[in-house]
Amino acid sequence: MKSPPQNPVLSALPVGLMSALEERKQALRAAGKTLHDFGLGDPMEPTPEFLRQALRDAVPEVSQYPSAQGTPALRRACAGYLERRFGVRVDPDRQVLPATGAKETIFHLPLAFAGGTRRKVVMPDPGYPTYEAGTRFAGLEPIKIPLGEHNRFLLEPEALGEAVLAETLLFWICYPHNPTGAVATRAYLGRVGEAARRHGFIVVSDECYADIYFGERPASMLEVQVENVLAIHSCSKRSGMTGYRSGFLAGDPDLVAVLRRMRSHPGVASPDFVSAAATAAWSDDAHAAARRERFGEKRERFLRFFAAHGLEVHASEAGLYLWVKVPRGHTSGSYAAALLEEGVVVAPGTAFGAGEGYVRVALAPALEACDAACAAWARVKT
Ligand SMILES: Cc1ncc(COP(=O)(O)O)c(C=O)c1O
Repeated sequence: MKSPPQNPVLSALPVGLMSALEERKQALRAAGKTLHDFGLGDPMEPTPEFLRQALRDAVPEVSQYPSAQGTPALRRACAGYLERRFGVRVDPDRQVLPATGAKETIFHLPLAFAGGTRRKVVMPDPGYPTYEAGTRFAGLEPIKIPLGEHNRFLLEPEALGEAVLAETLLFWICYPHNPTGAVATRAYLGRVGEAARRHGFIVVSDECYADIYFGERPASMLEVQVENVLAIHSCSKRSGMTGYRSGFLAGDPDLVAVLRRMRSHPGVASPDFVSAAATAAWSDDAHAAARRERFGEKRERFLRFFAAHGLEVHASEAGLYLWVKVPRGHTSGSYAAALLEEGVVVAPGTAFGAGEGYVRVALAPALEACDAACAAWARVKT
């Protein structure tokens, strides 16, 4: 078909800078260049063997349709994790809903709540691009709030004003934050919960990086409030399961009930053998601790290198990323391009929206690759 019909929402979405970066990477690889890839947040640490085995053991002779509600065992394991990690007690049947990864559930979630008079969806900028994509496909209006040193990377609800909050349907927060690695205090989460009750909006807290921390353990929004709140968790980074596609939602039982009804329509459900591996993952904390230690070692190497080379790192207290200020005279794009010529792949801050002036380093490659990447980085003229 020469000019196929296209949903205008699709044409209006920004073409991912990360895709352009991917093309350039492939061209350099084809030209024989060795690349140190700190661009994508897809860590190279192997999936722990007991999780791979749990999946293998669960492959049945006859594989039938999975339920959109997930297996009862998985829902119980998710609830068990929330209680151990955050001290939050939820009913596995009424307050937990498994998902085929956080990205999928972030994309679909606005569809369940759209259609009323509230049309605004507030989200952090820079931020994970799927908040905006899901919002636009649901016919809602994204309100992107710049985060930076000026607001300590905190998306303060009351700063938006009464008029905006009265029309707000969903309020996305993400701590530890992608791409900056900023974390939220309990007091901040309290302010968000309070505003949600006062103004009647839904808080959706993307907590995919909650178990990747190096100091204080990041809190969950559910620790401060369940009413009007949904939290999203994922096996991807915590358990090295990005390829398995598994996560879950938990929170306000009335909101979970709406999502459960909606999610039976697209039939988004991980296969039961993936759910068996996810059940094992949420039931164990030791493997998450081992991974955290590994990410911590990589982080230390980079922080030492950046300090020795006069490069500033902002926020980046937790999560998988370092948010590095580009040297004077560079933009995000020009610095990422200069690094790429030396074989170091990082994401320009602008790939996540209002991130000009920064590049994001994902602690994804193996520990051993970090030293080589730093040596290559040192060759870039500033
Ligand atoms: C902030 C944030 N939310 C959600 C996701 C998606 O996670 P999943 O792999 O569970 O789809 C990512 C992945 O990088 C992310 O950075």
